[in-house]
Amino acid sequence: MNIAMIYFSGTGNSKYIVDYLGNKLKENNHNVKIYNIEQNPIIPIDTDLLVIGGPIYAGNVPEKLIRWVLRNVPESSANSIVYSTSAGLINAHGVDSLAKKLSKKGYNVLAKETYLMPRNFYFGKYPKNTKDEVDKMLEDVNKQLDELVDKICLDTLNSKEFENKGVLGKDLLAETFSVMSRFMGKSFSVDDNCIKCGICVKNCPENNINFGKDKNIRFSNKCMLCCRCIHNCPKNAINYKGKKYEQYSLL
Ligand SMILES: Cc1cc2nc3c(=O)[nH]c(=O)nc-3n(C[C@H](O)[C@H](O)[C@H](O)COP(=O)(O)O)c2cc1C
Ligand code: SF4
Ligand code: SF4
Repeated sequence: MNIAMIYFSGTGNSKYIVDYLGNKLKENNHNVKIYNIEQNPIIPIDTDLLVIGGPIYAGNVPEKLIRWVLRNVPESSANSIVYSTSAGLINAHGVDSLAKKLSKKGYNVLAKETYLMPRNFYFGKYPKNTKDEVDKMLEDVNKQLDELVDKICLDTLNSKEFENKGVLGKDLLAETFSVMSRFMGKSFSVDDNCIKCGICVKNCPENNINFGKDKNIRFSNKCMLCCRCIHNCPKNAINYKGKKYEQYSLL
């Protein structure tokens, strides 16, 4: 089977899912291609199964991913699986949003998968996960993925009539959050530990970070709050609201 997997991932959790799934499906002789939406891929027309997902921000997948799907996923009657990764599962509604868009484009949505993964956003009231919690979550996710691989390989996933209720409101929330995040991103700053390596500049998915005329790091007003910069700075030099945080990333 030709399988295309598309993802957005700020700090690696959502990438982990397609990497793990992709490797297992390749071992089972499927032809798997994995694409990051930041590289603006073209989905091959001979795709039999499209897997697509990303993280949950305020209850939905990022507006960037929703927009990409609307603009770039071609109409097709192929099968599809949508997924999300999040620090809690109660409000993980991004799969409804993705499923609705794919159904409208003609896809058979076979499964909506939600994966509990370590929290990458703990600037407010939520705590960072401990190492034991992270290990347990990854162990559970691996089991969940192994089960999905079996179902794909045994062809036991059936097309379902998902209800995908309240998607309009949830998409509105994603849009509102994407506006809020531009303001919230102005709270990032860099301290004296910065060695001006440029890693954050190169890796920001929104080109929101640059070197100012004084050669110091500057944050612009396009942030989507993915947290990649703060968690992947080699010197942990990026602070949020003047505070330093312990880093987390699977990238
Ligand atoms: C801005 C932001 C908002 C988030 N909001 C939620 C949320 O509403 N619910 C939740 O369970 N997790 C939330 N999270 C946690 C992420 O969904 C979770 O850590 C995810 O697995 C990160 O995936 P990634 O590494 O692929 O970016 C949020 C993370 C960020 C950065
Ligand atoms: S990644 Fe960190 S050290 Fe490198 S330029 Fe950015 S803030 Fe400075
Ligand atoms: S500046 Fe914003 S969009 Fe860019 S990497 Fe940092 S959190 Fe993500």
